[in-house]
Amino acid sequence: MHRLAALLYVTCMMFLAAGTSVSGEEGPPAWAYPVNPPGFAPSPDNGELKHVPDSVAAFTVGQTRDRFFAPDWHPADHPPLPEIVAQGRKPDVLACGFCHRADGPGGPENANLAGLPLAYIVQQMADFKSGARATSVPQRAPPILMISLAKAATDSEIKEAATYFSALQPRAALRVVETDMVPKTYVAGWFLADAKSGESEPIGQRIIEVPEDLQQFENRDARSHFIAYAPVGSVDNGKAIVTGTRAGKTIQCGICHGPALKGLGPIPGIAGRSPSYIVRQLYDFQHGARAGGGSALMKGVVEKLTIEDMVAIAAYTASLTP
Ligand code: HEC
Ligand code: HEC
Repeated sequence: MHRLAALLYVTCMMFLAAGTSVSGEEGPPAWAYPVNPPGFAPSPDNGELKHVPDSVAAFTVGQTRDRFFAPDWHPADHPPLPEIVAQGRKPDVLACGFCHRADGPGGPENANLAGLPLAYIVQQMADFKSGARATSVPQRAPPILMISLAKAATDSEIKEAATYFSALQPRAALRVVETDMVPKTYVAGWFLADAKSGESEPIGQRIIEVPEDLQQFENRDARSHFIAYAPVGSVDNGKAIVTGTRAGKTIQCGICHGPALKGLGPIPGIAGRSPSYIVRQLYDFQHGARAGGGSALMKGVVEKLTIEDMVAIAAYTASLTP
């Protein structure tokens, strides 16, 4: 009897940890769409100069939080930044490089733009503008800001940004760690961070993606790295789904995204990208929040996927080189 009660308790906790309600009704998974807690405020700006590894640059906290400024820690990593990426255009078009970082890697709270096909970037901007591309969790500020700046950006600004980002090489920045238990995390500004409390909790059906070095990431260093904790077995499971060995589950991703999932023609690469981002996109396609012209091709792909499948797919794609 005691063992049964303990088992029930563990099962319930796992459901809660997985962000799934006990009734079985699945909403957008909270771990993929982190929302800042009420009253959230970043640490105060004390005017101190910040530094990151392997850079001689120094920026104040104020500069790293200025929405019209992209801190460029490693100017030798990329061609000169177009104005729209470096500064945006006041008052409505925030600097692309503020959120996506100077050469595009972004973070779990937005998207990696480095090396995306030019035509694809232009199309996504049009979809954000028209409302065809939205988000399943409108309480999150980053996609809402993305949508409003896309509405204000001109065709020539979009072309300038798209030309710049599409010419860049994406870098590997992720380490997938399969585990049953994960460190306790907190929402640190629309993404998860390791609470460093020494406490851990069951991973459940989640991917917990955290910066390796929180300070470096908060300073907006484009060379930041991430750990993606994933359930044991999820990488192999994801590989089986992606390569089409689970008959009837979905369509082989490589047919459209290229054999190494690095993109094909106007279709974006999905290898080595933030797994939280990938899960949000799969969920958004499935629930109609992402419904631009190109999404028709993804409809049949996502139709039968469960959250567990999405976790497995994203763990596998995160383990690949971009
Ligand atoms: C306030 C932060 C912010 C700024 C500034 C910003 N973006 Fe974004 N961007 C986002 C977020 C958030 C997403 C998508 C998140 C999601 O769907 O989960 C995104 C997604 C995108 C995508 C889609 C990527 C993909 O793989 O489909 C493109 C393209 C893009 N942004 C281009 C731009 C350009 C160009 C600029 C500058 C003109 C810009 N962004 C400025 C936050 C931002
Ligand atoms: C029939 C062609 C096709 C197949 C098969 C396909 N995709 Fe896609 N996928 C697309 C297209 C086209 C887009 C761009 C959609 C848009 O413009 O909104 C896309 C976009 C995506 C995105 C969003 C990328 C981004 O940068 O935002 C993800 C994630 C994705 N696909 C994952 C997958 C996975 C995982 C599979 C296999 C299980 C898969 N796709 C199979 C055509 C396909």
